[in-house]
Amino acid sequence: MRAVALLGGVVLAVASISAGSDPVSAQSTVPSAGAPTFNKDVAPIVYSKCASCHREGEVAPMSLITYEQVRPWARAIKNKVVAREMPPWGADPKETLPMRNDVSLSDAQIQTLVAWVDAGAPRGNPADLPPAPTFTTGWTNGSEPDAILEMPVEFDIPAEGELGVQMFYSKVPWNEDRFAEVVELRPGNRAVVHHAGIFFVDIPEGARLVNGRIVDSEGKVIGDRGSSGLPSTEGSLPGSSKLLSWVPGRGLDHHRADVGKRIPAGKYVNWQMHYNPTGKPEKDRSRLGLWFNKVPVTHEVLIRQAGDPLATTKGGLSLYRAEYKEVEYKADPSSTRRSRSTPNIPPYVESWSLTGITPVTEDITLYAMSPHMHLRGKSLKWVVTYPDGREQTILSVPKFDFNWQFNYELAEPLRIPAGSKITGVGFYDNSPKNRWNPAPHLEVYWSEQSWDEMYQPFTEYSVDSQDLTKKAGTTTSSQQRQQR
Ligand code: HEC
Repeated sequence: MRAVALLGGVVLAVASISAGSDPVSAQSTVPSAGAPTFNKDVAPIVYSKCASCHREGEVAPMSLITYEQVRPWARAIKNKVVAREMPPWGADPKETLPMRNDVSLSDAQIQTLVAWVDAGAPRGNPADLPPAPTFTTGWTNGSEPDAILEMPVEFDIPAEGELGVQMFYSKVPWNEDRFAEVVELRPGNRAVVHHAGIFFVDIPEGARLVNGRIVDSEGKVIGDRGSSGLPSTEGSLPGSSKLLSWVPGRGLDHHRADVGKRIPAGKYVNWQMHYNPTGKPEKDRSRLGLWFNKVPVTHEVLIRQAGDPLATTKGGLSLYRAEYKEVEYKADPSSTRRSRSTPNIPPYVESWSLTGITPVTEDITLYAMSPHMHLRGKSLKWVVTYPDGREQTILSVPKFDFNWQFNYELAEPLRIPAGSKITGVGFYDNSPKNRWNPAPHLEVYWSEQSWDEMYQPFTEYSVDSQDLTKKAGTTTSSQQRQQR
């Protein structure tokens, strides 16, 4: 058995498919010689590329496993695969480096499906049919995690109303930093979890946790979005505080065997949960599964946005351009954060640009990228400019789709030398041509709700000079402890 992890909270365990039929004894139900059949040619494709979502209880509207289920959809399947709309995968293959979690169909697979539909969608020889796939429920990663962290409380989601992002906190339950190769967030209730983010933070001195919320000495809840006294991530290397995001299409991140995400002892897990009421009262208690690295970790994964300085650039400021004009910064050398002066997106504009530029100030290795925008998000791409001026597009998502936000994991990690820059080129469509646009006549602000906008070209990398197997001279853990 081979476990193929797919995106979207599903795992497909595909029995290795053997083409074990004897061509001589095969009773031919094939109308035209050489045309692909369901049993021989199509079933292996739908099992491995479609069934993870197209089955009972999953996100897609219909099951696509048996001939009886697939046959009525033949025309629609042809249209969707030729348009490359199914399986969902946003990267333009012409402008994107190979990704190890690419779920899209090869040209040959598309041709097979098209030829099958055009030949009248024949069933073929029963002996050719591979065993149907089996699915695991539970963790998408297919095994029990080494550690499971749980939201500190079960949260009651009211039937109606608009909820801000709910902030919960729980203490990291061990005494020394650990590194995770695989992390997965499993919503307790997928009907209500709209998106979620997991971070590691410190809580303010004198504050304490009550029911998973931070309260100050007077018992007032602090640490909610928009309140003063937000827990700080100071003392961490910028970029180490974020663990992962859950949005439809993702929530399971694979790092590399010897490169992991730091789970820092002494910090608090900050569960940032965004719930959408369903019309009836609901409950959720989401869980985080961690699979630790099995070999010594040399480098830690840092997650930053294109546009923010490298995690190790002391005092660096973010660099963003809105409609090609530099966004202004606060003159605060202690902060690397972009000031709030990013202009709003005007009404009715069809193509409004926001670009972030990260100067690469030391050698790094790039692993993965994930675009996060909201309903006006139109396209996003990552371009690396090398010291000699050569430009390379690493990932291009030409038609950003809010419903499918993938983490694009490079098949081969990419070395980027000091003196390069990483540019995240984003466009927004606030016109009526954007079918998701809830209100083209309105100016769009930068904030949390899906009708507001975000620009988050998340970029995962490590700093080459780091070597966590050597105690002295590491860029992070030793210094961090001193700062704490
Ligand atoms: C990651 C999940 C996922 C995968 C993988 C996936 N689909 Fe889908 N598919 C969906 C969802 C969700 C919808 C309904 C919403 C939409 O159309 O986007 C859908 C819709 C469709 C439709 C249109 C149904 C209609 O009502 O018109 C077709 C046809 C289809 N898929 C075929 C396929 C085929 C063929 C594959 C594999 C080659 C595939 N899908 C893989 C999730 C998936």
